[in-house]
Amino acid sequence: MTLENKKVVLGITGGIAAYKCPEIVRRLKDLNCDVRVVMTSGAKEFITPLTLQAVSGNPVSDSLLDPAAEASMGHIELAKWADLVVIAPATADVIAKINAGMANDLLTTICLATDAPIAIVPAMNQQMYAAKTTQRNLTSLRNIGMHIWGPASGEQACGDIGKGRLLEPMQIVELIQAHFTPKSLDLNILITAGPTREAIDPVRYISNHSSGKMGFAIAQAAQQIGANVTLISGPVSLATPHNTKRLDVVSASDMHEQAMAQAPSHDIFIACAAVADYRPSNVSDQKIKKNDDDMTVTMIKNPDILADVSALTANRPFCVGFAAETQDVETYARGKLTRKKLDMIAANNVSIAGQGFNSDDNALTLYWKQGKLDLPLADKQELAKQLVVEIIKHYNHAQ
Ligand code: C5P
Repeated sequence: MTLENKKVVLGITGGIAAYKCPEIVRRLKDLNCDVRVVMTSGAKEFITPLTLQAVSGNPVSDSLLDPAAEASMGHIELAKWADLVVIAPATADVIAKINAGMANDLLTTICLATDAPIAIVPAMNQQMYAAKTTQRNLTSLRNIGMHIWGPASGEQACGDIGKGRLLEPMQIVELIQAHFTPKSLDLNILITAGPTREAIDPVRYISNHSSGKMGFAIAQAAQQIGANVTLISGPVSLATPHNTKRLDVVSASDMHEQAMAQAPSHDIFIACAAVADYRPSNVSDQKIKKNDDDMTVTMIKNPDILADVSALTANRPFCVGFAAETQDVETYARGKLTRKKLDMIAANNVSIAGQGFNSDDNALTLYWKQGKLDLPLADKQELAKQLVVEIIKHYNHAQ
């Protein structure tokens, strides 16, 4: 796995193992990781900032009160920039300071100012590591959610043998990779998204304003929490979310065929597509000429994909529908929940400007037989995350 677009702050403190840090940075750079190094004054006794600047390709930050450094990337900015803060080597001293919540240098300040995960990679004399205070500090940091990686055992720089060696650079890099690898969830999720197009003749069709953004955001959110995602998409101009199996379709009939074929091998079906309810009963082989003043297109009903998946008797997935309504949202949404025999329905009021169709934001209310939950206005990515979490919670409950 590459670490492209991942931003890591590497904090180096004053221990002999600091000499291994250029290797850590080089390996991270090999994986296209964006690394910024922060050094304590103790670290600079063991290795020069120049070395780390050269290998990281970025200026090294080492002072909290340096106007030049603050002007290029201030300490709060750096804290916000990070996707992950790794402190390697982490001395007993810095571990104690972080645990005490101190912020008297740049690195400890960043630890307080960041909301990114923090990984501590201890390295110290084995007796200092075994000391009750160090152990108490590490336990307390672990309890507040910090990662503690290592230490390794073996011969130490001081001649002692025991636990306290810094993990090898490659091991640290692998732990960083593992940290960014999405957790695998043993769950297959099928999603329909976008509009469908119903041909009138070879050049004309009937469709709707669906952009597909909500369905694609749901696919991305589901993928990010580790689900296997299949996305059946009508014609949209959106990039396929990472690690998602995308099946492109045009008409409601195509979408129906794909959904019926895929549904039995999936645990959850989320029907987000704005499927055309009707299609022209006859599709002309040739372009229809405008000879008459008026024209009639006779339409027939499309299959209801969601209702048909929900009616499966074998291997039926947990079924979630959407209801875009302009009035009496709860009544209509609950009506669909019952009529299509759904497990859950996500309703939105599309008459409100700035949410729903073709917008970046949305607000939803989830309804199920015994309850409901409001998911307030948020951008579609954020809303999709909340929605997926709620769906999985209900799916697990139903098992
Ligand atoms: O009945 P209505 O179209 O309002 O229902 C909306 C829900 O049903 C959505 O989840 C939509 O994706 C799904 N649907 C479908 N096939 C249709 C019509 C709607 O899957 N032909």
